[in-house]
Amino acid sequence: MCGIVGYIGNKNSVPILIDGLKRLEYRGYDSAGVGILSNESAEVYKKEGKVSDLESHISEFKLNSKVGIGHTRWATHGIPNEVNAHPHFNPEKTLLVIHNGIIENYTVLKKNLRDEGYEFISDTDTEVLVNLIDFYLKKELNLCNAVRFALSKVEGTYGIAAIYKNEPDKIVVARKGSPLVIGVGEEENLIASDVNALIAHTKRVVYLEDNEVAEIYKDRFIVKTLNDEKLQKHIEEIEGSIEEITKGGFPHFMLKEIMEQPESIKNSLRGRVILKDGLAKLGGLIGYEDRIAGSKRIIICACGTSWHAGLVAEYMIEQYADIPVEVEYASEFRYRNPILSKDDTVIFISQSGETADTLAALKEAKRKGALCVGVVNVVGSTIARESHTGVYIHAGPEIGVASTKAFTSQLIVLSLITLLIARKKNLSVVEGREIAQAILELPEKVQEILNQNELVEKVAEKFVDAHNFLYLGRGYQFPVALEGALKLKEISYIHAEGYPAAEMKHGPIALIDENMPVVFIAPTDSVYEKVVSNIEEVKARGGRIIAVANNDNGKIDDLVENTIKVPSTIPMLMPVLTVIPLQLLAYHIAVKKGLNVDQPRNLAKSVTVE
Ligand code: F6R
Repeated sequence: MCGIVGYIGNKNSVPILIDGLKRLEYRGYDSAGVGILSNESAEVYKKEGKVSDLESHISEFKLNSKVGIGHTRWATHGIPNEVNAHPHFNPEKTLLVIHNGIIENYTVLKKNLRDEGYEFISDTDTEVLVNLIDFYLKKELNLCNAVRFALSKVEGTYGIAAIYKNEPDKIVVARKGSPLVIGVGEEENLIASDVNALIAHTKRVVYLEDNEVAEIYKDRFIVKTLNDEKLQKHIEEIEGSIEEITKGGFPHFMLKEIMEQPESIKNSLRGRVILKDGLAKLGGLIGYEDRIAGSKRIIICACGTSWHAGLVAEYMIEQYADIPVEVEYASEFRYRNPILSKDDTVIFISQSGETADTLAALKEAKRKGALCVGVVNVVGSTIARESHTGVYIHAGPEIGVASTKAFTSQLIVLSLITLLIARKKNLSVVEGREIAQAILELPEKVQEILNQNELVEKVAEKFVDAHNFLYLGRGYQFPVALEGALKLKEISYIHAEGYPAAEMKHGPIALIDENMPVVFIAPTDSVYEKVVSNIEEVKARGGRIIAVANNDNGKIDDLVENTIKVPSTIPMLMPVLTVIPLQLLAYHIAVKKGLNVDQPRNLAKSVTVE
């Protein structure tokens, strides 16, 4: 939610900020702005809309400044317009602030500041913060101390960056609950919400922790606690390349990421499968394996697509590892009083590693003594660092707002965790080998499905005008039905619901008529015959059916006009295959509707607010 970037050095900061904002745009894209210090003044340029709109807007000004900050917004307080766009500034326009997060006590602070004579021009919580910092600057504090004092009054979350006309040699940044990373360069330093905005300039980074503040100069940086204690921070080297975060010839990141799945899956399982022993080796879990396998319960906490991956894992772990599993929406878990003990393991699944609800649930589970295991994509993210231990899914950067390759990589890692625990319990080496072999075969099978992209596109063509969709699946395919429906609704704005196929007759069947497309996920597994009966029921009521089925499906070919075939694997891994046509279907429908699939309305990639 919101991307922030800053530069200080010898180069013109403006193109660097714009480039950084484009790489952060997946975090929010309803308005963008930059603030610079130049010719002894502070200047702000903002625009409603995308970063490219801001770029064309500022191109005529030929801006040049060696220090600047930029922001791309996902609106929380105040509608998306130019006034509410960041940076926000103090009355004299000498102090500029960008912010990612929510100031929860902003109404009280605003009232106090109004009593001090401050006037507000925007509806944002950030303007309160900038005026609060200004209030302390006017008490003759320097910028860093003014930021510290202001933040000590703030409740909520923030990743902020501030620049001040009277101290043009620095950017001051601070974080609590929203990510912030410093990029350490030669005679230049950068700051950003995530490494995607830095990687073109440096691979040396410092992750700021909660309640830390830093002064960033062009040739050094100083990190302190909010209480002014100086800290020594470790500089980490990040992996990855600029190519990984570009579209690489594809029209959209989403399509690139769908097509990348054979490779991302290979990366998720590389070095982790020991075929001859039917085992999984997960470096991050060494030392914790017995505790996990000995858990009385496993609880899985996540949001959205990651939650769907958790539902699949529930079936996997209960089938093979014989441990009861509960899957929780992180947002609900954190506000209940979950009963947890040190005998429980809680797995937190998150692509971004920054989802506010998942992070809060993690903190709660830690407080209650459970073992917390992170299954995360973004290396160095907060959930990865806060968990006791964990496994990276190594899917590579996922930029498209709709999660695709992260989902399949999450399933791979969860299947490896299942194999690891199951082999510690009752699973035999022969059964272990079968699972290991099936996992290793997945990349090729995924490629086979991707080769049918054109067929899926043709199916999509027929359904572009639909207003509703139903997705039905049973067993391992029920979470896939939910995921297929989520993909469609988030990028095509078509209302879609996922249901367990057998639940259809308990209500949703009333919706079926000739205008209702129903997607059946019907591989030939133990419930296949029952799903075929459900297909007959829909057909009898005139519903339009799309089926995802195995090559050897027996009956479906005769029943259904639009069938997309997938290869077979063991049931536990079928979701990795069956979800691929559903990702493509959603993608093509949205593209045919002329929608921006990488930046769907109202969404953002990293949900760092509640
Ligand atoms: C859907 C989607 C979201 C995320 C959810 C959790 O395509 O991307 O539903 O899955 O916001 O995000 P992470 O996995 O980053 O915690």
